[in-house]
Amino acid sequence: MKIIQFSDLHITPPDGLLFGSDPLDRLRSCVQHVNRHHADADLCVLTGDLTHAGHQRAYERLREGLLDLIPPVRLMMGNHDSRPAFHSVFPEATTDLLGFVQHAETRGDWRLIYLDTLEDGYTNGYLCARRLEWLQQELAAHTGPVMLFSHHPLPALQYPSMDWLRLSNAPDLLPVLKAHPAPVHLFSGHVHRCASGVWNGLHFVTVNGTNHQHELDLEREGAATSTFEPASYAVILPNADGLTVHFQPFGYEELRFPYTGDLNALKCI
Ligand SMILES: [Fe+2]
Repeated sequence: MKIIQFSDLHITPPDGLLFGSDPLDRLRSCVQHVNRHHADADLCVLTGDLTHAGHQRAYERLREGLLDLIPPVRLMMGNHDSRPAFHSVFPEATTDLLGFVQHAETRGDWRLIYLDTLEDGYTNGYLCARRLEWLQQELAAHTGPVMLFSHHPLPALQYPSMDWLRLSNAPDLLPVLKAHPAPVHLFSGHVHRCASGVWNGLHFVTVNGTNHQHELDLEREGAATSTFEPASYAVILPNADGLTVHFQPFGYEELRFPYTGDLNALKCI
């Protein structure tokens, strides 16, 4: 199984540039790279901030930008998104019974759960009691390993400019996740940076944005500074032993150089 994760596309309406460029161009570059190298992926999970300001025209441009993407796509909400505008352009999107853009599916031995952590009007994430109850029911119905996708990270990343904007009630989820009898792996966006670690025994990963990144300033508090550091996406490879996550840049000049060292010097016991 192969899962692609990319995040924080921040697509704008027509003629709406962001930091001087069009985020749709960067999405197209990402789509081309995925198609060229990972057309065999089972899914592409887009972990929110699909648009920059939730405009309907931006979702229409997103739809255009994803038309050529070969693997099936799963779309999630971030704090920059609007559920009504999203649903007007993606009426087929799966929701729970309460209308939140969250759902779950089984792939092999794994349960993939997509959370909707958008709290309208707020930059931080929040999982209300109804959504939390839905999560509890999902976990209770499946005993195998889980990949839990959410726009907002649950852990603090020791990164002050974004930590105050993470999922604010993550402690409410912790006992639910810890009670699951198999490993639960957490995958998020929002921070516009690749990071990985362990939070209360749970493995977590965050990924870059497809458009812009946040500077790694570990002292700064308040709003993060945006940059055009190289964008990347995650390639998640689950197997019977666990999973591996690779981080793949795109939008670079794809030259290849064969290894030219002394192969006789390479030894393996
Ligand atoms: Fe974002």
